[in-house]
Amino acid sequence: MKEIKKIAVLTSGGDAPGMNAAIRSVVRAGIDAGYEVYGINRGYHGLLKGEINKMSTRDVSEIIQRGGTMLMTARSREFATPEGVAKAKEMLDIFGIDALVVIGGDGTFRGAKDLAEQGVAVIGIPATIDNDVASTEATIGFDTATNTAIEAIDKIRETASSHERCSVIEVMGRNAGYIALTVGIGCGAECVLIPEVPFDFEEDVCQVLIKGRNIGKHHFIVVLAEGAGNAVEMSKKIEEKTGIETRPTVLGYLQRGGAPTANDRNLASLMGIKAVECLQNGKAGRLMVVKDGAVKDIEIKKGLSMTKTISPEMLSEVKKLF
Ligand code: F6P
Repeated sequence: MKEIKKIAVLTSGGDAPGMNAAIRSVVRAGIDAGYEVYGINRGYHGLLKGEINKMSTRDVSEIIQRGGTMLMTARSREFATPEGVAKAKEMLDIFGIDALVVIGGDGTFRGAKDLAEQGVAVIGIPATIDNDVASTEATIGFDTATNTAIEAIDKIRETASSHERCSVIEVMGRNAGYIALTVGIGCGAECVLIPEVPFDFEEDVCQVLIKGRNIGKHHFIVVLAEGAGNAVEMSKKIEEKTGIETRPTVLGYLQRGGAPTANDRNLASLMGIKAVECLQNGKAGRLMVVKDGAVKDIEIKKGLSMTKTISPEMLSEVKKLF
């Protein structure tokens, strides 16, 4: 790998609490390593437009506690083409950028792999509230999003209890159920419905609620992953089928904002340091991951080839608590 003098950092895909902490870490660790560090606005879209600005340690002051991303993010159709990737490399060459750190999810890393195949030194940092990056036990933003959702559901439980209602709460996660499962366990839900594990509406929802009512439960919490259904439709079906008054809540973008938790701030900070350390050791094409609770680095291509899922056994294990 050629000698590194200038590195750049960008955020891409859906934003996640803790992205700012990761940006801060890359900038400060990079400057500490003797590099010039540049920020790219609006992800790969901004890279193609040359929205590249030099950053100082002061530019990332007072951001560790803020959700969102100071560099903003955007999705780029143009970058998804071979011509777009070639143009991105040209733009990095124009600015003399020797290495690029990308903060985002799987889609971000697929773009990073394409750039690596064009000879660009890239490093990936996993940041998405979905926690659906197979190669890592945790992604930046997941802890904050699940805590935000649990706080919201604790509030919903109080009104459900007052009115003896069932509440169906739809959480994010795109096609994954990690948010729903973690939140469902954490808020003591009666039902957790996720895309990874098919469910029978009558048996896994209606029967569970009716049995709960028969043993004296006065209110019910159903956590529904957005990839497994729609809270409004599910609520209507439950009320029609069971006679239990049911109300939907879609938490939506509430889960994407908010001050990152201590866990996310630490994870982001450690991954940023590790990312710069890889570059200092002449390692590129690497993805920062959490493995056995520690921050490590693996080959991006290997990371993208890995899979992970929630097994029916895992879900049935926690059903004992519902
Ligand atoms: O990937 C993060 C995420 O919040 C998903 O959970 C959600 O389905 C998606 O982004 C929403 O995408 P957008 O912000 O483009 O509407």
